[in-house]
Amino acid sequence: MSTKTTRSSRANGVRTRKSGAPHAADRRGNGGAAARSGATAEPAAETPATALDRGLRPGALDTAAKHRRYLFPCATTYYQEPLTLVRGQGMHVWDDRGRQYLDCFGGVLTVSVGHCHPEVTEAIVKQAQTLVHTSTLYPNPPLSDLAETLAQILPGDINRTFFTSSGTEADETAVLLARMHTRNQEIIVLRYGYSGRSMMALAAAGQAPWRQTGTQVAGFVHAMAPYCYRCPLNLTYPSCEVACAKDVEEVINTATSGAIAGMLVEVVIGSGGFIVPPKEYFQIVAESVRRAGGVFIADEVQTGWGRTGKMFGIQHYGVTPDIMTFAKGMANGSPIGCTATTEAIASAIRPLSFSTFGGNPITSAAALATLRVIQKQKLAENARDMGDHLHQGLLELQCKHRVIGDVRGLGLMQGCELVGPEKTPDPKSAAAVLEGTRRRGVLIGKGGMWGHMLRVAPPLTVNRSQIDELLAALDGAFADLALSA
Ligand SMILES: Cc1ncc(COP(=O)(O)O)c(C=O)c1O
Repeated sequence: MSTKTTRSSRANGVRTRKSGAPHAADRRGNGGAAARSGATAEPAAETPATALDRGLRPGALDTAAKHRRYLFPCATTYYQEPLTLVRGQGMHVWDDRGRQYLDCFGGVLTVSVGHCHPEVTEAIVKQAQTLVHTSTLYPNPPLSDLAETLAQILPGDINRTFFTSSGTEADETAVLLARMHTRNQEIIVLRYGYSGRSMMALAAAGQAPWRQTGTQVAGFVHAMAPYCYRCPLNLTYPSCEVACAKDVEEVINTATSGAIAGMLVEVVIGSGGFIVPPKEYFQIVAESVRRAGGVFIADEVQTGWGRTGKMFGIQHYGVTPDIMTFAKGMANGSPIGCTATTEAIASAIRPLSFSTFGGNPITSAAALATLRVIQKQKLAENARDMGDHLHQGLLELQCKHRVIGDVRGLGLMQGCELVGPEKTPDPKSAAAVLEGTRRRGVLIGKGGMWGHMLRVAPPLTVNRSQIDELLAALDGAFADLALSA
């Protein structure tokens, strides 16, 4: 066990046409040929109403088949046989065949207080019966109350907020803010990072699979990731003296103009594989960034609101950011993005700025209710305690199953890096374990640059016996994997 513990990232000092869109002729059937020959036997184009009726007809395509057939092919789903979810309650979801699953991924760290939490649902329903939409041109009570609540909770002098509908927009707003406030352009981001799917966010991404168009938006410079298990400098913490953090200064001096707008960084690199930076990391990089005239932007889209065992992930590091971004778990599944900063920085974006759906009354009511539940039920503390229990359990699994190369995480954001000989990433095993846990009625996630990370992030309401159920499912899935090898 002790060797395993040293191998884990705790050592870093932080607790740590297949089925795509049909061919047009297939869709037209005989009508296509008829239209080409000038015949008029077939009706012309379907009206939307008849298409809808057809979709609802018994025997029409099922939900998963429609997803495959009508969404963009890039909207891939987990599992060999897609899992259609129809209901959620607390820690559980149900599929279209009535099978129950323990949800340990929460729709990618988004269901924070459990599915359909009664207080959140009540807030949504009440607001839907009262006022659904205003836009930011008109104040509305849930939005103003949410902004006031955040001003009281957020660290330091951060007391101004701007709302949008996604994490992508929250990060876009943060970059705009940094550029306008500093009047500089360049932004440092991290390799392995992820900020969303706008053109700007794709240019900021530090993973090739997300950078499909190459760099179209200029001004992003990628520093090395604080990835201790695969140290880019081949060093070991702590004797490395956090050289990756110190290198940010070198990056600024050599790959930028020297005067930067800021650094946009996930507190725990999420989609890149739950990479937890060493405890000194953010103090070092924030100092370098500020010395170069930039602002320090903490992307708390995954780590915010109790997920890591503290209200905000950055609180593990003793640094107060200049700008913070939030989304995912903040409204328990209602679409929200939030950029927060100080009065002085917020004033840098002068009118005009507008968001149609930002601060939507229903979403704001959902966020207020979610934050109330997180505080009332002390869910950050629960995330810390259950996260510790989960981390210990994963370390024990690492002793049993050689494929687990590293166990790392903060609070209820825990991952296992699956590897073959010489740490070769093993995405096949990750996919097999995902299927194996599903068979056992437990849902987890995947991630990492090569899809070789198992990511476990249940709602913050999870209890000890549910963590044990999850660990047993993982153990069984790993055992199946060993048998099939
Ligand atoms: C750290 C981080 N930032 C930004 C985003 C983008 O958020 P969204 O998908 O809501 O646009 C994500 C999404 O996974 C994320 O994990």
